[in-house]
Amino acid sequence: MILKTLPIIADEFNLQNYDEVYKQFDWSDAERAFSWFETGKLNLAYEAIDRHANTSKKNKVALYYKDDERNEKYTFKEVQQQTNKAANVLKDVADIKKGDRVFIFMPRSPELYFALIGAIKLGAIVGPLFEAFMEGAVRDRLLDSEAKAIVTTPELLSRVPVKDLPHLQYIFLVGENIEEKDKCYDLNKRMKEADRQFDIVWVERTDGLTLHYTSGSTGKPKGVLHVHNAMIQHYQTVKWVLDMKEEDVYWCTADPGWVTGTAYGVFGPWLTGTSIVVAGGRFKPESWYKIIEEFGVTVWYSAPTAFRMLMGAGDEIVKRFDLSSLRHVLSVGEPLNPEVIRWGMKVFERRIHDTWWMTETGAQLICNYPCLEIKPGSMGKPIPGVKAAIVDDQGRELPPYRMGNLAIKKGWPAMMATIWNNQQKYDSYFLKGDWYVSGDSAYMDQDGYFWFQGRVDDVIMTSGERVGPFEVESKLVEHPAVAEAGVIGKPDPVRGEIIKAFIALRDGYEPTEQLIEDIRQFVKLGLASHAAPREIEFRDKLPKTRSGKIMRRVLKAWELDLPAGDLSSMED
Ligand code: WTA
Repeated sequence: MILKTLPIIADEFNLQNYDEVYKQFDWSDAERAFSWFETGKLNLAYEAIDRHANTSKKNKVALYYKDDERNEKYTFKEVQQQTNKAANVLKDVADIKKGDRVFIFMPRSPELYFALIGAIKLGAIVGPLFEAFMEGAVRDRLLDSEAKAIVTTPELLSRVPVKDLPHLQYIFLVGENIEEKDKCYDLNKRMKEADRQFDIVWVERTDGLTLHYTSGSTGKPKGVLHVHNAMIQHYQTVKWVLDMKEEDVYWCTADPGWVTGTAYGVFGPWLTGTSIVVAGGRFKPESWYKIIEEFGVTVWYSAPTAFRMLMGAGDEIVKRFDLSSLRHVLSVGEPLNPEVIRWGMKVFERRIHDTWWMTETGAQLICNYPCLEIKPGSMGKPIPGVKAAIVDDQGRELPPYRMGNLAIKKGWPAMMATIWNNQQKYDSYFLKGDWYVSGDSAYMDQDGYFWFQGRVDDVIMTSGERVGPFEVESKLVEHPAVAEAGVIGKPDPVRGEIIKAFIALRDGYEPTEQLIEDIRQFVKLGLASHAAPREIEFRDKLPKTRSGKIMRRVLKAWELDLPAGDLSSMED
């Protein structure tokens, strides 16, 4: 059904019309916001940048970038030119074509964003990698996806095991004094010489856009493929949930290595023609408040761990900054504690709006809106166009207040298209009746608000980052001293969970502080610093099933002093 034009829907929606819009909205209503609705020519990069660069928005700032050394801004016109240059380099040097996988592995910088959008202009599928990944993690992802090119820095190049990667033919380096040799090219130099014009490659809605690797409780990280069709939901949720208006200055603190950093760090805000702030460097309460003050940030999207760290830094610091520009504050990634919401009301005089979604879902699904009452502790209600429910293991819907699987009816625009090279894994997400099963357990109350209860599987959320216990265990047992390892998430007041490893040592090794440090370093250097266990406990033996699987459930019960439950499958 066709409603009114979209900006009106968004504005009316935010004026208390949740129920009505929820009843009437159909995703096809949202398509008229895009130029391809008229032209038939589609590419997310065009809608995000070129469309604005060809209108009165051309001199509006698209990107403010700040770190310890750089403080720069780029208009939509300038981003159009820079991304055209990046696209020309990728095309002319590396012959990147539609569907080729191009990885980006570098700290935040304007070049990262130019390369990202440039590659999308070619129809390439971009694999963003968090800068903290070490060699093993980089190898797994580039091998699985058969990446043809990577954009990285000279510092991070040592973690790209080029010799093990037969498909990797082109390495673009961003830095000073780059020597062009052995597959390596100087991106900045090449971009300087490149043409500012570029003819965008038009794609289908179902063509690949990004490949985000994410962790489950078993196996290696899996490649979640998103397609250009996701832009419909990116756009619409930025209107509804982020409540974005023409004059807003928006800051999303997530790194593009994670899905929030692409969907809501780049795509969604630029699709709506919003000025974004990107801050490089590490987390420090003072510098974060300074960013809000300096750029006059109005809409701010962050995560519970960050809010808890800010809360821990004290209210006195807040008073040293002028944060009056803030209009709308949002959170994602882990449960948002009611206490944090109350603190936000006190220091920012703003409610923090929780949002729920996952890498696999590609965009927000259950949220708190400016137009609805917040029930602190609840993730909110589904966005219009999305049906959410609590179902049992057979896919039967459960009544309010019954705990079960949080599930979403298949068919929202941003849903993953597949798991790369693993259709079987993709299929395993769905129950009969076309329910996508999230892996989270939750319940719904009588007003239709959803309340997160935990993960059904063993996936760990630490500081908002998703870590698969299997990946960490696999790395741990590569250490010469480790015979067996079991890894769990241990509740932590600031980080949500921390990674705790139970380890049985090989004969001849003594459990010392030095060894603990050594094992931790081993994971840090082999996988990533955020994957290294903060706590390590040695045990003579670990609880295992008769088939030899470590029973993390029992480890968790040990840790929390809980009954271990059914132990019938445990070996003697
Ligand atoms: C968790 C991040 C509670 C959840 C966008 C989910 C949350 C996983 C919330 C996905 C929330 C995300 N409240 N838990 N508002 N948002 N989660 O793929 O367990 O990194 O399954 O996506 O984070 O993590 P991912």
